[in-house]
Amino acid sequence: MKKTPQRKGHPVAFPAGSCHNTRMAKRTVRTSRQTAATRAAAKPPAELQTLVDFVRHAATRFAGAKLAFGQGTDDAIGDAVLLVCGALELDVASFDAFAAARLTGAERRRIAELIETRVRTRKPVPYLVNRVYMRGVPFYVDERTIIPRSFIGEIVQGELFAGGEAALAAPDEVGRVLDLCTGSGCIAILAAMAFPNAGVDAVDISQDALAVAAINVREHGLEDRIRLVRGDLFAPLRGERYDLILTNPPYVDAQGMAALPKEYRAEPALALDGGDDGIAIVRRIVEAAPARLTPEGGLLCEVGRGRAAVEKAWPDLDFLWLDTAGSTGEVFWIAARDLAQVRS
Ligand SMILES: C[S@@+](CC[C@H](N)C(=O)[O-])C[C@H]1O[C@@H](n2cnc3c(N)ncnc32)[C@H](O)[C@@H]1O
Repeated sequence: MKKTPQRKGHPVAFPAGSCHNTRMAKRTVRTSRQTAATRAAAKPPAELQTLVDFVRHAATRFAGAKLAFGQGTDDAIGDAVLLVCGALELDVASFDAFAAARLTGAERRRIAELIETRVRTRKPVPYLVNRVYMRGVPFYVDERTIIPRSFIGEIVQGELFAGGEAALAAPDEVGRVLDLCTGSGCIAILAAMAFPNAGVDAVDISQDALAVAAINVREHGLEDRIRLVRGDLFAPLRGERYDLILTNPPYVDAQGMAALPKEYRAEPALALDGGDDGIAIVRRIVEAAPARLTPEGGLLCEVGRGRAAVEKAWPDLDFLWLDTAGSTGEVFWIAARDLAQVRS
């Protein structure tokens, strides 16, 4: 990981609206008709027999339909593998071992239906199969929360916290961690795995998101290490201090929100909308963080393409901009001692 002077755009996405009962009822009728149509369109060709046959077929369909990716998968092939494995409840890490296995008739129909649904509705695959992977770790996900894909996962597992010259903290010395804007709980869970002695508080304003996070915390057996808290940023935390504050807040600016592809509009807008310049929530976090950090602590924050807005807002702060495998200058680290000069 290295410091970078560059800035790069970040593809973004987002959310769903509410509906009253009548609209819901109409939608239910339409959905059942569409499901029948999808089934008819989804009769799998006889030559598709194995897992890899369906991955190849799905990838071709997805690429031809010009779907948008980037919500837990990078491209049409990754999307196809996740769909096939998800439909079969097979861990993606086991795909190679089963790639040539022949599928039953019911499995072939189920996968063909999911492929047609993905193309017709543009709903992201993780919502269709209720599964996604971040840093190889499986997470349950549904439309109550954004699909996990934060760059913070890689940083938390990486050299920044693993000793050596660039280290900011040794993993076993991290005692208290706060994951602000936890969504599915993915960052809180990866942090609990990376920092074996840490207790993690995970906050979100959305009760729906926290319900998904609770499923993930339970699936990973971390109920005794992660506390899920509902509230507006720091408000529910009553003066507690943390060694690390990790946050992937909503950071899509107004221009980005207006241009979201349909796939991204399936996600909750609350998880994406960062106000006009994208840093409305980031601003509140940076201003309040000094009072919530221990003296040796620090804040790790993902801002997408908000780097210029952040540097304009606090020209005197010493942000360390971090690169990951998939991002350049979209995440900053700032030590508590450097944040202390922020005036709220
Ligand atoms: C970009 S998502 C990140 C979710 C998760 N940490 C991840 O990386 O996948 C932002 C999250 O912030 C939550 N959120 C938005 N405004 C908030 C606020 N004022 N206080 C707490 N959480 C908030 C949303 O509900 C959403 O779950």
